[in-house]
Amino acid sequence: MKLKKKNIALIYGVTGQDGSYLSRLLLQKGYQVHGVKRRSSSLNTKRIDDIYEDVHEAKNFFLHYGDVTDGQSINYLVNKINPTEIYNLAAQSHVAVSFDLSEYTMMTNALGTLKILEVIKNINPNIRFYQAGTSEMFGASPPPQDEKTSFYPRSPYAVSKLSAHWLTINFRESYGLYACNGILFNHESPQRGETFVTQKIIKGLINIKNKKQKKLYLGNLYAKRDWGHAKDYVHAMWLMLQQKKPKDYVIATGIQYTVKDFINLSAKKLKMPLTWKGQKLKEKAYYLNKPIIEIDSKYFRPSEVESLKGNAKKAKKELRWKPEYTINTLIDEMIAACSE
Ligand code: NAP
Ligand code: GDD
Repeated sequence: MKLKKKNIALIYGVTGQDGSYLSRLLLQKGYQVHGVKRRSSSLNTKRIDDIYEDVHEAKNFFLHYGDVTDGQSINYLVNKINPTEIYNLAAQSHVAVSFDLSEYTMMTNALGTLKILEVIKNINPNIRFYQAGTSEMFGASPPPQDEKTSFYPRSPYAVSKLSAHWLTINFRESYGLYACNGILFNHESPQRGETFVTQKIIKGLINIKNKKQKKLYLGNLYAKRDWGHAKDYVHAMWLMLQQKKPKDYVIATGIQYTVKDFINLSAKKLKMPLTWKGQKLKEKAYYLNKPIIEIDSKYFRPSEVESLKGNAKKAKKELRWKPEYTINTLIDEMIAACSE
């Protein structure tokens, strides 16, 4: 797809997994990319270090301090940068943590989205807006889930994202904004945060194999997820903002595995044969006759989303989106990056 004029993207959440892939994609497409990073006491830009341009010489990639809970700063940046597209990837994105930080999660994920929408409405309603929605919003609704499936959120995180989802629709319908919700199922990569289950499993197994760690403690092994690759999923975000009309789309692979399947697939690739014994809280995986995976009930959530499997038919038809990665190529890439 050819770009007609210089596009300027403003990315909230640029330092996260998806922000790092989206920045690369947009730079490749000739965008000027502005990313918003939070002030932190230690550096939080490691995922984008290799595309960072020195502030004195930057031409295409710029970083700014900001925070979605600070409406004044959003107002300032949108006025200054005059973006053509805004991607809101900023979030307290950990479901389990949202039970401990429910108020903060709502403020960042729901109110933060509202603040961006208000600024777009007031400063330049022509800015195209992407909202990072999630399959967690389907929660207890049985699979397969698509755009018509009822929402049944099961965590403060999911409730906050559902609020952002409806705010985005409401601003689209009330003020004619080009605003889209991507309803993305789980997506992983070598850039995935270390406390999400896929990265925790891969890093844990590699550490155990290399004798740097004795055991890996996990929670619910039987939750089912539809895991894709972040690189494929940020492409879908961009496609959503290039259409004639703004709409909401489910993005998923349509294939589901349990957490235990993910462990077994990863262990097999690492040539670590596992034997499972015991049940429920006493279930353990043995490697070379030693227990290396055990259950710790602290990783169970007060309410769980048991089964996610998306149907991305609409995105495949209208956006012509399709994932390039499979679960096998995803795990291979995560293992390779971890072993470097
Ligand atoms: P992530 O790695 O946790 O990144 C979240 C980003 O948001 C980080 O850059 C973080 O900054 C930033 N952030 C957090 N609070 C902020 C605030 N108050 N103001 C500004 N920035 C803030 O998440 P991800 O996996 O890339 O996911 C991107 C988005 O998609 C999130 O909104 C997530 O909820 C949503 N989503 C993710 C998935 C998935 O499977 N990955 C699926 C569906 C939806 P720091 O680096 O400083 O922490
Ligand atoms: N994190 C974690 N840690 N999860 C575990 C563990 C563990 O030790 N043991 C089992 N699990 C189970 C969780 O209970 C959940 O059912 C599943 O593994 C996946 O957990 P996460 O990797 O933390 O992801 P998530 O599905 O809760 O949320 C992710 O995907 C959502 C999209 O559906 C996040 O990226 C969300 O931001 C995103 O919206």
